[in-house]
Amino acid sequence: MMRVGVLISGRGSNLQSLIDAQIAADLPVEIAIVISNVADVEGLARAEAAGIETCVIDHKFFDGREPFEAALTEALKTAGVELVCLAGFMRLLTGDFVSEWLDRLINIHPSLLPAFKGLDTHARAIEAGARFAGCTVHFVRPEMDDGPIIVQAAVPILELDDPASLAKRVLAQEHKIYPLALRLIADGRVRVEGARVLIDGAEAPSPDGMVNPSG
Ligand code: GRF
Repeated sequence: MMRVGVLISGRGSNLQSLIDAQIAADLPVEIAIVISNVADVEGLARAEAAGIETCVIDHKFFDGREPFEAALTEALKTAGVELVCLAGFMRLLTGDFVSEWLDRLINIHPSLLPAFKGLDTHARAIEAGARFAGCTVHFVRPEMDDGPIIVQAAVPILELDDPASLAKRVLAQEHKIYPLALRLIADGRVRVEGARVLIDGAEAPSPDGMVNPSG
C-alpha cells in the first residue's frame, strides 16, 4: 500500500474519485491525509465521511510561502506520505517544495497540456476554436502546469458547448484518469525520463487517448 496525501482547496470531486477507487479496493493506495488550505470546504467533508485524517493549513496564517510549505511537508511526513496528489489545490508551490517531493508530486489539470495552462481552460479552448479539450495528470515542476505527463484524456468540443457543459464532460474524464494515474504509479510502472513519462507494459493509447492500464 502506497501512502498518499491529497492537497485540496475546494469541492474535492477529484479527491472523491480517489476515495471511491480506494474503497472499491481497486487501488493499492491508502489516502493517509487530506490537507486543505481553506477551511470548511466540501472536500474536507468528503474525506471525513470516508474516515480519512484531515487538516487545514491556511496559507493566510503564514508569513510567506516557505513557512506555509514547511507546514505542509511536516504534516505530510508525519502522516507517512510517499506521494502527494494535488486535486484542485489553488496555491502555486515553490521550487523548494517541488524539489522536496520531486517525482512524488502529481497534479490534475483540466486541459490537454501543454495547451491552456492556468485558469479558465474550457472558455479559452472554446474561444480558440479547438476541436478537443481534455485533462492531464502530470508530475509537478516549478513552472505552473508544467511537468512530465502521465495520463491524458481527450474530450471533443461540440458547437453548442459553453464552458460549463464542456467542464462537465471533462470532469467525468478527470475522475477516470486520476485514479488510473495513481494506480500506474502505485504498481511501479511509471518512470520519468527527462521531460517524458514511460509506462511499463502500456499498450498504444486507445482512440480516446487513455493509456490502457491492463496492457
Ligand atoms: C478540477 O477541474 C481540476 O482539474 C482542477 O481544479 C478542479 C478541481 O475540482 N485542478 P475538484 O475540487 O476536484 O472538484
